[in-house]
Amino acid sequence: MSAAGVPRKRNHDFLIKGARPLGRESTDLLIRDGVIAEIGSGLSSAGAGIVDADGLVALPGLVDMHVHLREPGREDAETVETGSRAAALGGFTAVCAMPNTSPVADSAGVVEQVLHLGLQAGLVDVQPIGAVTVGQAGERLAELAAMADSAARVRVFSDDGYCVADPRLMRRALEYVKAFDGVIAQHAEEARLTAGAQMHEGDVAVRLGLPGWPSVAEETIIARDALLAEHVGSRLHVCHVSTAGGVEIIRQAKARGVRITAEATPHHLLLTDVRATGYDPVFKVSPPLRTDADLAALRAALAEGVIDIVATDHAPHTVEDKECEWAQARPGMLGLETALSIVLEVAFDALGWDGIAERMSRAPARIAGLSDHGHDLAVGAPAHLTLVDPTARWTVDSTSLASKSRNTPYAGMTLPGRVVATFLRGEPTVLDGKATR
Ligand code: DOR
Repeated sequence: MSAAGVPRKRNHDFLIKGARPLGRESTDLLIRDGVIAEIGSGLSSAGAGIVDADGLVALPGLVDMHVHLREPGREDAETVETGSRAAALGGFTAVCAMPNTSPVADSAGVVEQVLHLGLQAGLVDVQPIGAVTVGQAGERLAELAAMADSAARVRVFSDDGYCVADPRLMRRALEYVKAFDGVIAQHAEEARLTAGAQMHEGDVAVRLGLPGWPSVAEETIIARDALLAEHVGSRLHVCHVSTAGGVEIIRQAKARGVRITAEATPHHLLLTDVRATGYDPVFKVSPPLRTDADLAALRAALAEGVIDIVATDHAPHTVEDKECEWAQARPGMLGLETALSIVLEVAFDALGWDGIAERMSRAPARIAGLSDHGHDLAVGAPAHLTLVDPTARWTVDSTSLASKSRNTPYAGMTLPGRVVATFLRGEPTVLDGKATR
């Protein structure tokens, strides 16, 4: 990625000693000029920075297809820079930034602004997602082609936070992006079924006296959009799938050959609606935390590949917007700095390191069209990689996160696996578990 006016930094050489690519046998990796120049044991290189990676697993740099960086407009909650730092600390080398900013990223100008902010921060590649409709208002299509042709080269479009409710607009959007192999990432929510909803519709909601968000509100849109994508022959991506029924619809659509992909978030893979007991809004999220049965279905689907990727839906919110009464609080939780640890906790046995690389690097890069990312660690590949200590355990402290916001639902939890280093195009963005900038 390059852009006018943003100077490129000179790459230094780095020699990573004794890393285990995808958990296999330990080896050395020489990084030169932003690419992996050599792999083998006993490598040496005069003047190269030495990184002791004894016992560390080397993964291709992680890719997050769904983050909210809040800039422009809500820099009090997050900026592209603070969100990028959180991402690098989480082992990510690329993130896709959702367009629900202020102004909405629905034009070439705004997506280019986000791209430039990402380049200036220089901690991860920030790929802007464009809005599907003007102002995310669901009334008319945004300038999809102008965003696709802009310097930001947008390929993913979404009104995330809102559903593209009008089936005619959804059909047109799917038709439009087909020309440049784009994808529509849908926030599946039939809003007429969720008016006033505060949490998952079920026993817990009844007990707490909170209005429910029924699973069918998500499933009805996934089913409709799978049919539309099939009719048009275009690519549909389903954001933050949260229900067992949604998984089944996606499974059936895939079996018919529909071009549909799907993501699950770490929080929907770990937490359930029982967390709402106590009315702590840190557990309020859209779609809401669901049931044990949904969680089990999501985990099985992730293992099987019906759910293609893990995406964080990193959603920073200020104290004012989050630490208030449940009904007033904004939905959303932080995710970038804890994602890999949560996935190790819930899915390592089923996925192994290779499966984690597929669900958190290769597949999201493929779906989002990020051709520079998601490559296996091989000679000649771009040097986007993360080094993970698989034996470490750490306790999440909301006050020591790099994100500008504090709304992590994992505070106080002890989780496995720690990101020790991250390299973006051969430059360390994290070393010894700390951001380099
Ligand atoms: O919980 C959520 N928060 N879900 C969304 O879809 C949007 C996000 C946000 O922007 O805060």
